[in-house]
Amino acid sequence: MSRSIAVLGGTGPEGFGLARRWVKAGETVIIGSRDAKRAQQAADKIRACVPNAQVSGDENSVACVSADVVVLTVPFEGHAALLKHIKPAIRPGSIVVDATVPLAASVGGRAIRTLGIWQGSAAQEAAELLPNVAVVAAFQNMAADLLNGDGPVECDVIVCSDDASALQSVRGLAAKIPGVRAIDGGKLENARILEQMTALLVGLNIRHKGHSGIRITGLPNEKYKT
Ligand SMILES: NC(=O)c1ccc[n+]([C@@H]2O[C@H](COP(=O)([O-])OP(=O)(O)OC[C@H]3O[C@@H](n4cnc5c(N)ncnc54)[C@H](OP(=O)(O)O)[C@@H]3O)[C@@H](O)[C@H]2O)c1
Repeated sequence: MSRSIAVLGGTGPEGFGLARRWVKAGETVIIGSRDAKRAQQAADKIRACVPNAQVSGDENSVACVSADVVVLTVPFEGHAALLKHIKPAIRPGSIVVDATVPLAASVGGRAIRTLGIWQGSAAQEAAELLPNVAVVAAFQNMAADLLNGDGPVECDVIVCSDDASALQSVRGLAAKIPGVRAIDGGKLENARILEQMTALLVGLNIRHKGHSGIRITGLPNEKYKT
């Protein structure tokens, strides 16, 4: 399937790791940044290590203009402002994937706690700010350190959305990362749980000095397949 994926905040570890994995899998990726030059430098870095890479870099809203899928990987403090900034640039019919976690660190608190969000979660805030767009919550529980390594990422990605078709598309995208199983996590309101789980994983990483992720067990085999 030919599509273009814009990864906003793709200069940071989470977005860069996702972008690099997707480019490696043959996807076309546009790295987004507040600064076009920084985005281009990140794209160059991927191009240097992936043969025949389909990757470019641009300012966040410019990156959205030609994207079929827009992935948000920015700290929560920049989330709402970024959504307002890109809103006019998002193409009709495109999907917005939100990996943002509202960690309390965004307001000077601890990364092992999340903030209370009026809408329920960062992803639901995105859906409120982009009312005509299919918003999907995913990748909140995926450690950037593992994404930026070369081995398989041994974790499950729980994907939530109120749009069934967008949810399926993003499951397919997640499953392109070696080691990942993408699971239908139901409605977007479940994003509040995914976001809180990240705070727990951050705490586990600090306590046990690792890069934790989650695996869901006990579902019928076909539910792990995309
Ligand atoms: N790191 C992880 O392991 C991990 C795992 C799961 C989920 N997440 C979530 O994914 C998101 C990104 O994580 P990260 O560790 O990559 O974050 P980060 O390094 O702090 O930020 C990512 C990028 O966002 C841009 N940015 C920073 N402040 C911004 C603002 N106020 N407004 C708009 N853009 C801003 C920066 O790019 P430019 O300066 O180039 O614009 C930066 O390189 C966060 O919400 C995080 O909670 C992270």
